[in-house]
Amino acid sequence: MKNQILRCKCVDMSVDGQGIARAGDLVVFVKGMITGEEADVKIIAEKKNYSFGIIDKLIVSSPYRVVSDCPIAYKCGGCDLRHIDYSYQLKIKKDVLVNTFKGYAVKDIVPCEERFYYRNKVQIPVRDHKMGFYRRFSNDIVEFDDCLIESDIANQIISDLKKIMIGKPCEKMIRHVLVKHGKGTNEVMVAFISKSLNIDLSDIVAYLKEKYPSIVSIILNLNDKETNVILGNEEKLLYGRDHIFDIYDGIRVKLSLKSFYQVNHEIMEKLYKRVKEVSEISENDKILDLYCGIGTISLYLSRYCKQVTGVEIVKEAVDNAKDNAVMNGFTNSEFILADASKDMDEYLDDKDIVILDPPRKGISKQLIDSLIAKNVKRIVYVSCNPATLYRDLELMKKHYEISAIEPFDMFPYTVHVESLVSLKRKV
Ligand SMILES: C[S@@+](CC[C@H](N)C(=O)[O-])C[C@H]1O[C@@H](n2cnc3c(N)ncnc32)[C@H](O)[C@@H]1O
Repeated sequence: MKNQILRCKCVDMSVDGQGIARAGDLVVFVKGMITGEEADVKIIAEKKNYSFGIIDKLIVSSPYRVVSDCPIAYKCGGCDLRHIDYSYQLKIKKDVLVNTFKGYAVKDIVPCEERFYYRNKVQIPVRDHKMGFYRRFSNDIVEFDDCLIESDIANQIISDLKKIMIGKPCEKMIRHVLVKHGKGTNEVMVAFISKSLNIDLSDIVAYLKEKYPSIVSIILNLNDKETNVILGNEEKLLYGRDHIFDIYDGIRVKLSLKSFYQVNHEIMEKLYKRVKEVSEISENDKILDLYCGIGTISLYLSRYCKQVTGVEIVKEAVDNAKDNAVMNGFTNSEFILADASKDMDEYLDDKDIVILDPPRKGISKQLIDSLIAKNVKRIVYVSCNPATLYRDLELMKKHYEISAIEPFDMFPYTVHVESLVSLKRKV
């Protein structure tokens, strides 16, 4: 059956943005196909109950199909929806959420207005004399000149590094280049992740300093381990400071190489505003912000409540959060270095509101049990992974009234989406 061409009709879209097409009883996942379309599809792989295919000839095109403006979108595996009109992308993402959150209401997705060059962080692998993104499911590098979702200045820096770094002796030691851009301050950090700290990057550093006054931090990070984790533990400062500053909603924050920061500045501000609204915060409330990163939600909320405690597992982020509180003159916040998936009972005791914003794996059963046992009255849960959010809500729904899921388009053109939901303890 492989290589056979079948006339298929696309009936739905998968979580990862592929068309789900049918040819009789056969289900075929087809990259780039849109619901309602008909196409002759070439089968490229077969599984027991379904196949994978590629469009050989489009017969009936969707009215929502647009010409993709990125030449590498489907190679690099970043923007799976670039061939689809933006408003229809939002519908597809919402439909996927409605399917995931069975039994819950789902609101329309809050759109992103600045959809080009929105990402403030990029990490680019370097190998085989190339710099670019990994081709989907492979270690091949797909080079690019102008990534339409990465920060514009990151594109320019990567372009220059391709010219001045590739082919030099240092190249074989560099594994990744990481660029962070504070959209509110225009400050830029460039980090070279290397197999050794004993490499000479002085020419490259001099070039970057001279050409880009907005670069205020250049770091060499050592990672000599063969794992999927990009950053290692040791760092050498090559230029400037070991952090950049950014500003959101009038709050100035310090951000180190290892600290998490939301990638889309516009949606971050919209999301935090909504966190505040749904938390129904008042001036006497005490808040626990679990998975707090550099304290961005904590500091945002600390202006409206009595006290905030943030908990975070990355030391650099906790240090940033503490500095950020001092820098902004917020005296009612504290930050703790701890694992939020473990015993949080002592922090939960006197809290009126708990904010949860975990990584993709969601929160632990132990934390859910503690939230329930400690009778926490209000919870706001922010999540970048609908599957684990659904799993966790199912474990809490017996004890909590759960609001509609509110999605935010934090990652336009990709299949990813951020969600927010509020929970109120049942009486
Ligand atoms: C999605 S980010 C959210 C950060 C912050 N709320 C924000 O809006 O920028 C998740 C954070 O959880 C941290 N983290 C991951 N596992 C953790 C754990 N077990 N305990 C505490 N923090 C954790 C990560 O380092 C990261 O800073």
